[in-house]
Amino acid sequence: MQKDFDVLVIGSGLAGMTAALSLDPAMRVALVSKDHLAEGSSQWAQGGIAAVLDSNDSVESHVRDTLVAGAGLSDEKATRFIVERGRDEIQWLIDQGVEFTADEAAEFGFHLTREGGHSHRRIIHSADATGRAVTQTLSRRVREQANIEILERHVAIDLILGTHPGSGKKFCRGVYTLDTASGRVVSLGARATVLATGGAGKVYLYTTNPDSATGDGIAIAWRAGARVANMEFMQFHPTCLYHPYAKSFLISEALRGEGARLLLPDGTRFMPEHDERAELAPRDIVARAIDYEMKKRGLDHVYLDISFKSPDFIEHHFPAILERCLEFGIDIRRQPIPVVPAAHYTCGGVMTNLAGQTDIDQLYAIGETAYTGLHGANRLASNSLLECLAMGRACAAAVGASAPSQEQARLPVWDESQVTDADEQVIVAHNWEEVRRLMWNYVGIVRTDKRLARARHRLQMLKEEITSFYGSFKVSRDLLELRNLVDVATLIVDCAAARRESRGLHFTQDYPSQILVPAPTVVRQSITSPDAR
Ligand code: FAD
Ligand code: SIN
Repeated sequence: MQKDFDVLVIGSGLAGMTAALSLDPAMRVALVSKDHLAEGSSQWAQGGIAAVLDSNDSVESHVRDTLVAGAGLSDEKATRFIVERGRDEIQWLIDQGVEFTADEAAEFGFHLTREGGHSHRRIIHSADATGRAVTQTLSRRVREQANIEILERHVAIDLILGTHPGSGKKFCRGVYTLDTASGRVVSLGARATVLATGGAGKVYLYTTNPDSATGDGIAIAWRAGARVANMEFMQFHPTCLYHPYAKSFLISEALRGEGARLLLPDGTRFMPEHDERAELAPRDIVARAIDYEMKKRGLDHVYLDISFKSPDFIEHHFPAILERCLEFGIDIRRQPIPVVPAAHYTCGGVMTNLAGQTDIDQLYAIGETAYTGLHGANRLASNSLLECLAMGRACAAAVGASAPSQEQARLPVWDESQVTDADEQVIVAHNWEEVRRLMWNYVGIVRTDKRLARARHRLQMLKEEITSFYGSFKVSRDLLELRNLVDVATLIVDCAAARRESRGLHFTQDYPSQILVPAPTVVRQSITSPDAR
């Protein structure tokens, strides 16, 4: 089956919904999501959105803080482009109906909190559930738009590529998607395809990310021959709740912004020994310090304490975290919170310019899937949602200005003649677990050449197994995600092995110092045959 649109937006997090809402309403847009509309990291965002909203603050200062966190690898032009748009993007969200936490005494009328690496209070938020406020509002707006067709439970599999007759250059004609309700593969055609599929936190055993974060867009673009960069820079958030029954619950950096302290089990504060900015040092430093203390002392976790603040303050600023911790018997008004670092944000991704354009004509990438150069070797807290907004809107403008709509010729049909129903789902489940565990053990916060080589070898064997499975059986969401996880894990290992220095989020015991002139790690695959099946 084939369905044609003007634009396909794959992924309905903040980046995808922003792009879909910003496109010309005369365009027929498909907003494709592998789960339900609001599912994705965006709805779990807690701390807020970084933007310059106070006259004591400045774009220069926000740019500088971003470049410092990026440890010499952020692209200054991209950083300036995105940071300069902060105020307009926040105004756009307010115009859509998003309600931020008010502060009548503040110049812009909203409370601004602080997070690690920021030299000013510049994080606008909706209490401690900013993502929920933003995605609920935008989901409502998307459902009101007559030109947007929402395709939930459709998993993008691979791009459908064409070749320009003169130049031989590849261009994107659309994507194959698995409709998980019917089990059928649908070919979606369009003159522009926007990948907004989020990050790849699920490649690690412990992560703050939702189940959908399997790096699909990165793997899909890479298989089609687009360049991917800086995958070694996986950000580990320092403070994920440590509890046997708490799956992936983040304890926002905003707690540290409001004074919370990291403690050892005996109540000793340890961050001042690691960095003069203590708990407000950038995330790579705080996560590494926790990892160091845990390994040195044989601890399962450390503690984060905000109980010295008044109960009123905690209830007003952190209601969702308070409630969730209470469910696990932890009252953060009275006791410290057990925390551990966990994989949180994919700083690398599909290389794009400042319109979201990738190496492949008619293919764009935005949000956590993309690499614009903003985050360098380490993302500054709350810069991600800002990037989703700025790039979502810039991409929509570029798509609007590109070639006019044409009738799609027939797309190649998905061929299932050689495959049968899978007989051994246990293989898929086992390999999922194995990829995530080996990445956690061998490609975590501290790396070595030996561990990377071991990971690479094991991933190669898993890839062979999965390729054979993929070639023999009908596709399922689990299998497609596993295939992507292995590709993305391999990209992380290859990028990490190529970086012979320690910088930002990439720390290796074999090369502990920094080289003088750093450059992004860029990878591209030589064979491009994603639509062969
Ligand atoms: P997502 O919001 O993850 O959306 C991805 C979408 O793509 C989903 O709809 C998913 O279903 C869909 N999708 C994926 N694969 C496919 C496929 N194959 N086919 C079809 N659809 C697909 N950043 C901040 O700036 N501030 C914060 O306070 C903050 N807090 C965070 C808290 C948590 C717990 C987490 C996990 C992240 C946080 N971040 C924060 C990071 C930020 O939330 C994410 O980087 C950002 O939301 C990513 O948005 P996105 O639109 O790129 O992707
Ligand atoms: C947090 O609230 O700590 C998450 C902020 C972010 O990831 O930018």
